[in-house]
Amino acid sequence: MKHLVSLDDWDLGNYKDFFNLVTDFKFKKIYCPNKNLILCNLFYEPSTRTSSSFASAMWRLGGQVISINDVNYSSISKGENLEDTIITIGNYCDIIALRSKNAGDAQKASQVSSVPIINAGDGNGEHPTQTLLDLYTIWEKFGRIKDLTITFVGDIENGRTVHGLDKALDSCTKHYADTFDKSIWPASDIYYLTRVQKERGSEGSYSMRKEHIKHIPDNAIVMHPFPRNEEIPKWFDDDPRVKYFEQMKNGLFVRMALLHEYI
Ligand code: NCD
Repeated sequence: MKHLVSLDDWDLGNYKDFFNLVTDFKFKKIYCPNKNLILCNLFYEPSTRTSSSFASAMWRLGGQVISINDVNYSSISKGENLEDTIITIGNYCDIIALRSKNAGDAQKASQVSSVPIINAGDGNGEHPTQTLLDLYTIWEKFGRIKDLTITFVGDIENGRTVHGLDKALDSCTKHYADTFDKSIWPASDIYYLTRVQKERGSEGSYSMRKEHIKHIPDNAIVMHPFPRNEEIPKWFDDDPRVKYFEQMKNGLFVRMALLHEYI
């Protein structure tokens, strides 16, 4: 059975076919006939974009969604362990999108699951569907996902979106600005900003300033998985280098393509 626990499970050699499918969903507005399939969104951590775009993707494909996003109303609040929850839910759906608090949970779930597990973020581990939508956004702009320069700014240690993208862009030049007082970022094609993951023990804050902007090339893009805190002020939102709104939009089409491929 195919699971998507880590991007290591994905053959990036075939990324062009996958991205072409994403583009079809995005621009040709292809919707599948009702496939009568059910996605379970099992979210042990908060989410806006990932859970709602997964749900929207499944509905748009003609399937249906069970959402367990407030675990207080499930047996998890009675102390049920992850494996028993996964075994149970596997009886009622065809695929599970799992967001959990600990790195390694998605792997653990995949070992007992009777249906595909899609890792929707496991603690400070990985977030492979976010990585795919980040890669798609980069590919859309530059026509490639290699031979680029990327600067990661923010929480390098605990940001799971950084971990996945960093690994996937292995043939790119990478800079890391994890000390938030650096006033100038190196010239790059992509600036990937992230929030400080306070819930995982990270501390501090940073904010993009005018002196940073001056050093961002005209053809570069600024990405952020969102939610943002103070790292990107709203005054930057109209800048032509902003890609974070398109990036979140792409989340829907990437997840449609993914669900289409997986079940
Ligand atoms: C990210 C996450 O949950 O890892 N958000 C997302 O899925 N778009 C980033 C974050 O929470 O900082």
